[in-house]
Amino acid sequence: MTAGRDRALRSLHLILIACATLPVSLFLYTSWAAYQSAFDLADENIARARDIAAGHAQAVFQSIEVTMNSVEQITRGRSSESLRLEESELNARLKEMRATIPDIESIWLFDAAGHPIASSLLIPVPSDLDVSTRDFFISQRDVGARFFIGKVFVPLETTRNIFPVSKRRIGSTGNFNGVTEVSIQPSAFESFFAGIARGTSASLALLREDGSLLSRFPVPAGVGLKLGSTSGFEGLIAQAPRGGRYTAVSGIDQLERRFSVRKLSGFPIYVTASLAMRDIRYGWLVWMASHLVFGVPATTLLIVLVLVAIRRTEAFYAEVERREALEANLRHSQKMDAVGQLTGGIAHDFNNLLTVITGNLQMALRREHDSKLQRWISNAMAGADRAAALTKRLLAFSRNQPLDPRPVDANRLIAGLSELLNRTLGEKVSIETVGGAGLWQTEVDAAELESSVINLAINARDAMPDGGKLTIETGNAFLDEDYCEAFQDLQPGQYVMISVTDTGCGMATEVVEKATEPFFTTKPTGHGTGLGLSQVYGFVKQSGGHLRIYSEPGEGTTVKIYLPRCVASGPELTPSNAGSRLEEGSGEAILVVEDDAEVRSYVVEALSGVGYHVLEAGDAEAALTILATGTKIQLMLTDVVMPGMNGRALADAARQSHPGMKTLFMTGYSRNAIVHQGRLDPGVSLIQKPFSQASLASRIRAILDSRPAPGESA
Ligand SMILES: Nc1ncnc2c1ncn2[C@@H]1O[C@H](COP(=O)(O)OP(=O)(O)OP(=O)(O)O)[C@@H](O)[C@H]1O
Ligand SMILES: [Mg+2]
Repeated sequence: MTAGRDRALRSLHLILIACATLPVSLFLYTSWAAYQSAFDLADENIARARDIAAGHAQAVFQSIEVTMNSVEQITRGRSSESLRLEESELNARLKEMRATIPDIESIWLFDAAGHPIASSLLIPVPSDLDVSTRDFFISQRDVGARFFIGKVFVPLETTRNIFPVSKRRIGSTGNFNGVTEVSIQPSAFESFFAGIARGTSASLALLREDGSLLSRFPVPAGVGLKLGSTSGFEGLIAQAPRGGRYTAVSGIDQLERRFSVRKLSGFPIYVTASLAMRDIRYGWLVWMASHLVFGVPATTLLIVLVLVAIRRTEAFYAEVERREALEANLRHSQKMDAVGQLTGGIAHDFNNLLTVITGNLQMALRREHDSKLQRWISNAMAGADRAAALTKRLLAFSRNQPLDPRPVDANRLIAGLSELLNRTLGEKVSIETVGGAGLWQTEVDAAELESSVINLAINARDAMPDGGKLTIETGNAFLDEDYCEAFQDLQPGQYVMISVTDTGCGMATEVVEKATEPFFTTKPTGHGTGLGLSQVYGFVKQSGGHLRIYSEPGEGTTVKIYLPRCVASGPELTPSNAGSRLEEGSGEAILVVEDDAEVRSYVVEALSGVGYHVLEAGDAEAALTILATGTKIQLMLTDVVMPGMNGRALADAARQSHPGMKTLFMTGYSRNAIVHQGRLDPGVSLIQKPFSQASLASRIRAILDSRPAPGESA
């Protein structure tokens, strides 16, 4: 049963852990995977943008090269002077060429000294113009670069940025014959890049090998910008001259960006495309948040469902356990009833037979004078007497013995037994009796109760062959409905409890279960009949009481018997109680303040029973409400420790409105505890729970009769 419950709960707890951890791990894994794929996707998009931009740039530069080659063909083998003579024709041809490529600003022809021969832009060309110190000229004259691309600048003749592209021209002898220069507008690339980047954080750029920026979108502030030698771009092309990928903070807009770079084939120019990292991450976060929108409520719901299942399972098993205990008790008492009926029947018939046997034996004994025969008859008589004693015990168990119930004070009864017990138990066993204060009376057969206590004491002695301690305690007890539900025929209510505790060998659970069955004994043959506890059990049940055994092997045993409290006070069996009389009231009003409903009803009943007019309150606040109505109250009987306002504070408050009213405190704590903890002042009237009706009545009478005390110093 417990194993089944544990297994079920363990599985549910595992499911609970899985419900919490699985979605979290799944989410973490998905996040990681989505992070990777967000970057993969970004890389793809960047590469696509880069390829489109590179394709466009490649086409532009190839067209420029074609244009230059055409100029080369027209001018090949001709001197600068002869070309100057055809300036207007050349101008027309250059204009035509320029018109075919919209990205070109102008085309110029310079002689070997750096002076213009012709241009697509001006006619005639300014004769004083000298470009011999410009990079696009020097590079072709001194180095003979195949294709030179200059930095961006703003020429004097226009206001628009351009960057020059130049190529040397060769004379008939292969000598340096001058330079063809094409001016290109960066804005042409910028607008193309803008088309690719539209609506994104993408940036696209055209760069020279040395990091000089030719064109970029978004367009930077400033002209002729150049990336440093430590920039990510320079680092990349140093390692991978054809291009690649890198992530770095942009030297232009200072944003962390993911770049993709490609070199144009045949030209010393690179195209880069990039996306801002924060945008890639933001896209990933938005995507993951969309998972959370469904994931969080679903997971929470799942966890709540499993928690509910755990609750239900616990409640279910608790209920099953309760029912099993109930059924076990029921089975036990049914078994005892059945065995009781059987033994009762046998014992009853046996008793009759024994009456016949002993009667006849007695008659035979009176008539017979032969001493030998007399001895035999006496032996037969002794045997019959033992059989009669046995039958009596069987009758006791079957709850069929004739009983003579009278009100009994268990404390006095036990005190009266002390000498007998001392003798029976011997010197090795010490006896302590703790009589509960204010013990209620119980209405039982006193002789049978004595016999039961002796039976329990003898069992205790037998369990302590090497000596030990026997404790007999009495006390008032309340068995509530919850408790009584588990036992057949047990009524909730007030009981007098007598417990017999030893420090002996104790009992295993199986022994405890069977101990009250008739003829169950663990003692060697001839040492025990196994009827002791069954007799006690039968007597207690017949008296409307209850018996419980608490025992652990090696830890001693406590047997508790509960006998119903007797409220109606009849003539008591013990002589010292015979003369005791209840102090009566004469209709005085008493306010009882007690939070424990059970105790309150007992007190109310006890005081009403002796002629007081009783008002009751469950707490101090309710008491103050009653006091506020102005009802005349002679005495307030209040609990000291209560939830909310305590008894002392209540008494202080009540004294204001009812100065003549007397107060009696009641408490379950000892007087010492109450006074030392500052709950009450020493000397106030205090009665300790549990108390008897008689002691309460006499205490109340005494306080009411005292004069002039206003309650606090009785
Ligand atoms: N105080 C105890 N400590 C340990 N075991 C006990 C105690 N009281 C009873 N038992 C166990 O319960 C059994 C039944 O007790 P019960 O009093 O009914 O019979 P008995 O003592 O064996 O014989 P009888 O009382 O008839 O002489 C005992 O044999 C013993 O095993
Ligand atoms: Mg016994």
